[in-house]
Amino acid sequence: MVHVCRVDTYLTTRIEIAGIGSRLENMDTRLLRDQYGDSGNLSSRVALHARFSTNPKGWADWLFEQFDLRGATRILELGCGPGGLWGGRIQTLPSGCQLVLSDASPGMVSEARSVLGEERVDFQVIDAQAIPWADGSFDRVIANHMLYHISDLSRALAEIARVLTADGVFYAATNGKTHMHELHDIIRESVPSLHELSSSFTLENGGDLLRSHFGEIAVHRYDDDLIVSSAQALSAYVRSMGSLMDATEAQFREIDQTIADMVAREGRIAISKDSGLFVSTRLA
Ligand SMILES: C[S@@+](CC[C@H](N)C(=O)[O-])C[C@H]1O[C@@H](n2cnc3c(N)ncnc32)[C@H](O)[C@@H]1O
Repeated sequence: MVHVCRVDTYLTTRIEIAGIGSRLENMDTRLLRDQYGDSGNLSSRVALHARFSTNPKGWADWLFEQFDLRGATRILELGCGPGGLWGGRIQTLPSGCQLVLSDASPGMVSEARSVLGEERVDFQVIDAQAIPWADGSFDRVIANHMLYHISDLSRALAEIARVLTADGVFYAATNGKTHMHELHDIIRESVPSLHELSSSFTLENGGDLLRSHFGEIAVHRYDDDLIVSSAQALSAYVRSMGSLMDATEAQFREIDQTIADMVAREGRIAISKDSGLFVSTRLA
């Protein structure tokens, strides 16, 4: 049985959130407050990819082609952000299928709900490290570009495996370690200590991390790059990055200048991407 707690319960107070997510550590709470309190930072990054990606298909369309939702009755998305994956797609779900969209940030959940409406969707504020449902509650679990933010990843993966049905499938999207490395090289000229936040769960190490909790694991890569011709759009992306939460205004200005000089000189900046999806089944 699915335990449904309405999001309003949690929106009233942050202390309540800390109650559910007692495992949230200092970095997690800071990230959720400063980076993901609302969708502003994420939207700057999504906008750059939407405008300058070379693959016309688009990430969300590609991702949906990888999902096999036939016969699914209960789907849980963790770290759904403002629900960008689902615009125009909820009606394509199998009839009778229940979708739960969740995130540890109340602001994100609230935005997802106002964008998508409540028909066929339950919205929940949930820490992926403590999923409040019984074993075997979902036949699909989705984690799109969010596992690398979790401090106790092993705990979250154990939770996901626990709430999956025996024949359930877990979809986990992430980046490879060279994803956007040309941009990171530019940033490191001004911020040498840059540490990419996504490095804890990548396309390279993700298989090993999943193996302790899941059975068959396949990885699919999305072929795409960025050709950016707007210095302003790339600078906005840089200012939105969670890994630069401690950068100073002087450092941002220096990066802005480097980007502006490169675009003025070459007309564009080529940035390679490496994103993909792990498809995992439960351990037998
Ligand atoms: C990079 S965003 C991705 C959002 C969305 N999946 C997408 O791809 O557009 C990461 C999301 O994970 C959420 N998040 C971070 N830590 C979390 C946790 N422990 N449990 C659940 N969600 C978390 C953030 O609030 C944020 O919305």
